[in-house]
Amino acid sequence: MALVRIAVFLQSLSRSLPLKIYFAVCRNNADSRLFKFMDNYSRILVTAALPYANGPVHIGHLAGCYIPADIYVRYHRAQNRDILFVCGSDEHGVPITIRAMREGISPQQVVDKYHAIIKQSFADMRISFDIYSRTSNPIHHETASNFFKKLYDDGLFEEKETEQYYDEKAKTFLADRYITGTCPVCGNTNAYGDQCERCGSSLSPEMLINPRSALSDAVPVRRKTKHWYFPLQRYEDWLKDWILNSHKDWKNNVYGQCKGWLDSGLQSRAMTRDSNWGIKVPLPGAEGKVLYVWFDAPIGYISATKELTERWGDYWCRDDTKLVHFIGKDNIVFHCIIFPAMLKAHGGFILPDNVPANEFLNIEGEKVSTSRNWAVWVHEYVKDFPDCQDALRYVLCANAPETKDNDFTWKDFQEKNNSELVSIFGNFVNRTFVLMHKLCGGKVPPLHTDVLDGIDNELAANIREAEEKVRAGIEAYKFRDALFEVIELSRKGNKYLQEKEPWKKMTLTGQKTEEANQKLVDNCIHFCLQLTANLAILINPFLPDTSRRMLHMMKVVEKMLEWENAGKLKLLSVGYSLRPPELLFRKIEDQEIEMQIAKLRNGLVSVQKGDNTAKLPPESNVQKLKPEIQYGDFSKLDLRVGTIISAEKVEKADKLLKLSVDLGFETRTVVSGIAQHFQPESLKGRQVVVVANLASRKMKGIESNGMILMAEDIEGRLHFVSPEDKTGPGSPIT
Ligand code: MF3
Ligand code: ZN
Repeated sequence: MALVRIAVFLQSLSRSLPLKIYFAVCRNNADSRLFKFMDNYSRILVTAALPYANGPVHIGHLAGCYIPADIYVRYHRAQNRDILFVCGSDEHGVPITIRAMREGISPQQVVDKYHAIIKQSFADMRISFDIYSRTSNPIHHETASNFFKKLYDDGLFEEKETEQYYDEKAKTFLADRYITGTCPVCGNTNAYGDQCERCGSSLSPEMLINPRSALSDAVPVRRKTKHWYFPLQRYEDWLKDWILNSHKDWKNNVYGQCKGWLDSGLQSRAMTRDSNWGIKVPLPGAEGKVLYVWFDAPIGYISATKELTERWGDYWCRDDTKLVHFIGKDNIVFHCIIFPAMLKAHGGFILPDNVPANEFLNIEGEKVSTSRNWAVWVHEYVKDFPDCQDALRYVLCANAPETKDNDFTWKDFQEKNNSELVSIFGNFVNRTFVLMHKLCGGKVPPLHTDVLDGIDNELAANIREAEEKVRAGIEAYKFRDALFEVIELSRKGNKYLQEKEPWKKMTLTGQKTEEANQKLVDNCIHFCLQLTANLAILINPFLPDTSRRMLHMMKVVEKMLEWENAGKLKLLSVGYSLRPPELLFRKIEDQEIEMQIAKLRNGLVSVQKGDNTAKLPPESNVQKLKPEIQYGDFSKLDLRVGTIISAEKVEKADKLLKLSVDLGFETRTVVSGIAQHFQPESLKGRQVVVVANLASRKMKGIESNGMILMAEDIEGRLHFVSPEDKTGPGSPIT
């Protein structure tokens, strides 16, 4: 009954709108389709992970979470569904207090600064949140605080006293990440309290040799402290049933991670921390304690909805709402296990229907590292490519790490933009408009049903099928596949034009032929235009700006973009005159790409310029300079180019390789400690820099004559230092 009423309402709405051009499509069909894919839900609430306001967002964030969420939401809006999209900045937690200390400003100043940058980046990339809030807002403090209080009053927390590391100089307890020391496994002197980044061992702070505070360098002491723990194990059986039995539909990567956590057993987790930045624990005698950031942040979804609408309860408390959390893979446990257990414990809230988490996007083959500034920052991209938002949205969706980590390279970005957006989609639309102006007087030509042929029918079928495929893809969170189908349809448009060759027909003369040919040309252009209108609808969730530009060219209103129009062939009415074509995409030049690659590789240079503090690497990673030397000291070194002729492992020494190096005038044996970094076979023929006048010394019984120079990166990986192009062995380096 209610559905019928909404349908009637929509019908009257569409009639009352000033829709000059596109025909009323068959509403009956459309109405039944409108609700068919709603899985019995009446409304949808979409959340995207709240980014930490301790730095700007990079394209990995976009690809992992915000672009897929935005596509999903834009699609459902086009389906006229009752949907909300909420997000905001995550403004609590240790990383923010640390950054504040480093930059010598207050935590509030840190979050104010990054909240503004992040919010602008999302707006620039057309991420269409209904609200972008922040967790420092009073409404959030109140909501999170009441949530905690309710669990406390219901007796759901365990109170425990434990010993933790305390920094007496900085007067603060230290999170694991902020204790550094020597790794007990590999001896790296800069290991963190939770992990050694050199050998990958996972550690706890007590395991570190010579622990130091990363804040003040002080030696931390153990101190007693009391916290409130949430006993996750009590929800284990319920979670197993809810996820492992009832949510086999979740993505493999998500389901698999949940299964891993559940199989290895859940434990109580502290939901409070010692800090003065965050939401105060709302209990007497809890001074200096705040809610754990992962307790408060997801509640931020609720607070943001509250801030947005009085109807927030419809979205959070009614089971006919479909709740979908878009996140990156590092957030899975929090959204699939901890937050649902919290919601369940609290009572009265719905649980997510799906948590379509993506994996990570690497950059040029390497993991993103914000501390090393190995990232493409969104605010910088927008500055460098102010007219190419859709190009980035396209590449990030086409390359989205939906099932496994994926790689972003600037070359591939250029390639996809130039050969898919420009040459296929953009080219089709442009050709259609140019031909329409040239051959049909700038108007939508009539359709002559008497001369329709198989090729026309095939194109019509392709359009209908594309709608189904794109819809199915988006609804199944398979955004890459869905986008591929849109481009595929435009490719078919090009093929259709190629087969019909309307430009050739006009060269034939004789009155009868001309009339007959004009009919064929009309049909061809008519179909191409209807296809263009369809492409505007189908591309809209992915590339909203492009879609708007197409609307402008077709002189139609936004309402045409409603999904129920997709697959239809009478969207543009005959005789309607359209605007001249505009280029939808521009080519991206080699030079621009080279600049970006150089910018990435020289990332640390811009840190020295001091233009973006977010890029500062942690102090502990900056190697101190050795004391100054004079030129005379340097000139004593005799550095030469050498070519490795052979390499073999040294027995009973797992770090050493024995190398034969051709120095032009002689061949040397050099023993080098690089066995754990390179396969001996891979070294043959490589050019290296050799310290050629170093006194010889014996290693494992082998005399080593010289030394090879290597660059060691922040993660302890070695890289060859060698001439840019092959150089005669023995060439001096001066
Ligand atoms: N700030 C977290 C991150 O960037 C995400 C928080 S999501 C929320 O990894 F659910 F807690 F809000
Ligand atoms: Zn280690």
